[in-house]
Amino acid sequence: MSTTKKEKSGGMGCLVSRRDFLMGSGAAVATMTVMVKLPGASEAQAATVAKYPRKKIGQLSKLKDDSPVTFNYPDDGANAGSVLVKLGTKAGGGIGKGQDVVAFNAVCTHQGGPLSSSYKKETKSLGACPFHLSTFDLTRHGILISGQAYQSLPQVMLEVTGDDIYAVGVMGLIFGRHDNLKS
Ligand code: FES
Repeated sequence: MSTTKKEKSGGMGCLVSRRDFLMGSGAAVATMTVMVKLPGASEAQAATVAKYPRKKIGQLSKLKDDSPVTFNYPDDGANAGSVLVKLGTKAGGGIGKGQDVVAFNAVCTHQGGPLSSSYKKETKSLGACPFHLSTFDLTRHGILISGQAYQSLPQVMLEVTGDDIYAVGVMGLIFGRHDNLKS
């Protein structure tokens, strides 16, 4: 407040004060950005993650390379069908010794085509979707390889406790839902 009053008063002291004011306000904005955005973002993320159930979906020792296991997550409602698979090659978000165990919602993000039985070991992918042929890369967070979808397949976030595998969240919106936690 005192800086603003000096600016209005004019004179040499005014220029120094204005520069000080601008530098000071810049620092203040930067400080405010850090203080407001970072803690806010992490709290929001924590709140989002906290809402998902922690559900046991398998055991590392029982998985075989390229043999998908189906499960429902985050509930048993619409479009919750998902696939857990050990790819045998390192993947984004992969868990286990080889960081090769991943899980994805198995409903096509284009128009809801079923993908749960479409795993291809040659390309480590889900698809082609029976509706319009979209195919998704499971080594790279479910990104689209080809087809008409334009969103990646939602990846189920995993954690391991001992030998047990737990689903703990979903990265991306499940087809047909406006909120992953409401079916
Ligand atoms: S619903 Fe899967 S490509 Fe259209």
